[in-house]
Amino acid sequence: MKQPTTSTLTLEQYHAFSKLLHWLMAILMIAMLAFGLLLGEVPQAWRGFAYGLHKSTGILILMLVAVRILWRLVKPAPAMPADFSTLVKYGAHGAHLTLYALMILMPLSGWWMSTVAGRSVEFYGLFTLPPLGDVDPEYKDYSKAVHTWIGYALIALISLHAGAALWHHFIRKDATLRRMLPHFNK
Ligand code: HEM
Ligand code: HEM
Repeated sequence: MKQPTTSTLTLEQYHAFSKLLHWLMAILMIAMLAFGLLLGEVPQAWRGFAYGLHKSTGILILMLVAVRILWRLVKPAPAMPADFSTLVKYGAHGAHLTLYALMILMPLSGWWMSTVAGRSVEFYGLFTLPPLGDVDPEYKDYSKAVHTWIGYALIALISLHAGAALWHHFIRKDATLRRMLPHFNK
């Protein structure tokens, strides 16, 4: 039988609701990044619908990240194992913090981009969000560049993050990935 590593023995798992939020948001974020990059390819007849869906789902992400941050205050993340080096611990915390920041900035920049272009932002046709500032066509290109570059930063960081999780699982063979999976067994 495989001998458990120190990490496997000491690691606590994430709360079930934290796991649900993590995977739901991971799917939404990855789908939205791909969707955003493909928006220009959508046939003209479907473009209005596609933009509306992209914008509404972006706002949904903003709401979910607020729930997630509040929930994290109630149920903090389980401690990292003692045998992780300080560099790995700080690196992981820094990456998670940056992911949270980008998950907020991404929808906010989209909302701002729509605002400066004078376009309304609806939430699945249920209600209209207030503008995030003034209409100002001078900022149209700039706001789009901000939205795009935050998107590229997210793609890079998510790749690093998922790669690190797989490295822990398959190379280091510790419980880092498993403690975020639905069925955790030490
Ligand atoms: C986490 C949420 C979001 C993600 C991951 C995301 C991602 C992206 C990406 C990757 C692009 C392509 C950029 C490019 O081709 O240069 C894009 C375009 C766009 N996004 Fe988002 N977005 C999000 C939220 C929003 C929100 C909330 C809005 C507006 C309320 C929005 C409005 C737009 C618009 C209008 C475009 C098209 C820009 C253009 O081609 O002129 N996005 N998005
Ligand atoms: C696609 C594959 C993904 C895998 C395999 C994965 C895996 C993991 C794992 C194993 C953890 C726990 C790390 C630990 O125990 O310290 C974690 C945490 C986290 N992940 Fe992911 N993840 C993925 C995608 C994403 C995406 C797309 C995002 C957001 C854009 C994201 C954001 C986060 C955040 C913010 C945390 C920290 C949670 C907290 O401590 O509050 N993940 N992820």
